[in-house]
Amino acid sequence: MIIAVDGPVAAGKGTLARRLAAALDFAYLDTGSIYRAVAARVLAAGGDPQNHDEAVEAARSLGPADLERSDLRSEAVGQAASKVAANQAVREALLAFQHRFAAQPPEGKGGAVLDGRDIGTVVCPDADMKFFLTASMEARARRRHKELLERGEKSIYARVLQDLRERDARDSGRATAPLKAAADALRLDTSEMDADQAFAAAMAEIERRLKLPGL
Ligand code: CDP
Repeated sequence: MIIAVDGPVAAGKGTLARRLAAALDFAYLDTGSIYRAVAARVLAAGGDPQNHDEAVEAARSLGPADLERSDLRSEAVGQAASKVAANQAVREALLAFQHRFAAQPPEGKGGAVLDGRDIGTVVCPDADMKFFLTASMEARARRRHKELLERGEKSIYARVLQDLRERDARDSGRATAPLKAAADALRLDTSEMDADQAFAAAMAEIERRLKLPGL
């Protein structure tokens, strides 16, 4: 069974997807971290995320250690990630790994939850359940600002808001696999929901649609 969770920056995809995977005993893949790892490699080599050859080379030579880098969640890496993510050859280079993860989840798990921007539309168009999370720009900026401060990073709310706007525009406007809801995705606006409420709403929908008895 495959569950897709897509949505814009800081809409709560990671929190929801991780909790669904734990509740269902499924494997979880944060696909954003793969794009972040490619971007971090380019930046660490002093390269330009918008340089085609540098980004493609970083994607093709990506290894497990890159996904463990401590700088992946920084806003600078997030911005660079949305630049390498607009590169079609980069996306193609990362597709096989994501397909394999979904089709054969690690540790023999019975299913997988993937979160990102194009899981329901491109990576797993046949997913059993698709969610598209949204939240107001302000709610998302507040969450990301809090998350950065809690991790001990410097954060200025106005800059976080600006970063969100830029990244949303780049992710939605790109030609390849733009951020958009799949036609059969369930939209969940989490502006007024905390993590528990979003989880409860998503689980109720999974039980209803997939007719899983009282998980
Ligand atoms: O967690 P946050 O919402 O900040 O972003 P993320 O999921 O870590 O993704 C970082 C960037 O990678 C996004 O801004 C997208 O440009 C890109 N991405 C993508 O293009 N496709 C995906 N499936 C996942 C992420």
